[in-house]
Amino acid sequence: MYLGLDLGTSGLRAVLVDADGALVASSECAWPVSHPAPGWSEQDPADWIAGCQSAIAKLKQDAPHALATLRGIGLSGQMHGATLLDASDEVLRPCILWNDTRSHAEAAALDATPGVRDLSGNIVFPGFTAPKLLWVETHEPEVFGKTAKVLLPKDYLRLWLTGEHVSDMSDAAGTSWLDVAKRDWSDALLATGHMGRDQMPALVEGSESSGQLRAELAADWGILGPVAVAGGGGDNAAAACGVGCFREGHGFVSLGTSGVLLAAKDRFAPAPETAVHSFCHAVPETWYQMGVILAATDCLNWLSKTLSESPATLAGKLPDTITGPAQTLFLPYLSGERTPHNDADIRGAFVGLDIGSDQQNLTQSVMEGVSFALRDSLEALKSTGTDLQSVLAIGGGTQSRFWLESLATILGLPLDLPAKGEFGAALGAARLAMAACGARIHDIMTPPDVAETIDPRTDLQAAYDDSYARYRALYPSIKAALT
Ligand code: XUL
Repeated sequence: MYLGLDLGTSGLRAVLVDADGALVASSECAWPVSHPAPGWSEQDPADWIAGCQSAIAKLKQDAPHALATLRGIGLSGQMHGATLLDASDEVLRPCILWNDTRSHAEAAALDATPGVRDLSGNIVFPGFTAPKLLWVETHEPEVFGKTAKVLLPKDYLRLWLTGEHVSDMSDAAGTSWLDVAKRDWSDALLATGHMGRDQMPALVEGSESSGQLRAELAADWGILGPVAVAGGGGDNAAAACGVGCFREGHGFVSLGTSGVLLAAKDRFAPAPETAVHSFCHAVPETWYQMGVILAATDCLNWLSKTLSESPATLAGKLPDTITGPAQTLFLPYLSGERTPHNDADIRGAFVGLDIGSDQQNLTQSVMEGVSFALRDSLEALKSTGTDLQSVLAIGGGTQSRFWLESLATILGLPLDLPAKGEFGAALGAARLAMAACGARIHDIMTPPDVAETIDPRTDLQAAYDDSYARYRALYPSIKAALT
């Protein structure tokens, strides 16, 4: 048996799979995000450990015999978060998350430093890890002084599981401290970020072993033999493992808390000027590119909170099939934006509200706004020469047929819907565990069956293109209005 643990922004998903990768049992737990100031986004790492313990307890209850034969664990996690530890591995402050933009000034300064983009292959976005540490140095010097190690969220979970400080290449690529071409920490980037190699975890490939499950936990969980913990991956790389996305031209669009359009690359192809991310994949000698928008289903969650209706109720007010774009446009920049604007200060907007605008209209505008933002990411990827031929659609937002059809039409791409079953980052993590225990990557990391392909509505494409042009024109005006 193999266990995949995906430490997400809203909670943890644990999946237990057999040696063929088939799902045996799964469990989930949720945790909160706090926003103590505008642009801030934090979590208590103790919640991750407690959540993981409760998810494992549920697996033990549901499938004790299967859990007893566990051989490997793989980890996936929300990227970029800074978990600061002192010399005794005590957490020094709440983790500063990937969608926290407080360190935008530090990010801009790092980004402008000669050589930084060349080595890291990316813009230094405010959500990345290095600028967070510079912010802590200025605003919380005592914490900075005590920081003996910085761990990404899933690597803090690994520390609890194994007692080891280790990260994997795909997650480390999002720190702005990694030489992404060489797949090693860069002393030059670390020095620019006022950090040292001793404060970094050791590095392994996602498909290699990073240590063994602690005997005490193995005994608690009723496990009989030794258990290897694989390097694992940042959530997008792990999701790519879950859907077998490695080949040039293959990609996926993810409607999760954040929105991602990811394209596998057979070589490192940085293009920081486009605000496209270029990161190491979770398997050796492979990279990927992606456009990232900071709020996708998070926009629908915000609308749902504001209107006191659940996201499912709001989505349920829309028909299954589209009839043309909404008059009202929505800019989904509720937490600032990465691709293509790299703008921590920009905020969202509804434009063109009417006295008759109701919940249904607003929900449609929100879904279309997120889809337009992903079209921006598609255009950014295209501008680097990336040509996506096959795109899977994954993530919670794909439950809405209306959203899927809007997205396919706005992107002008057919979207493949995986057949029901497990194919997300948690499965990708479990597959990395299998690889760390000796399975061959290309035997196990296969694409899911496609249940259905959602084709763009060619009859409506011109109307949506027109709305996209109106959407594009809004960013400079909203920017001007906010400054
Ligand atoms: C990727 C990113 C997000 C988080 C969300 O760069 O910031 O996709 O990983 O979990």
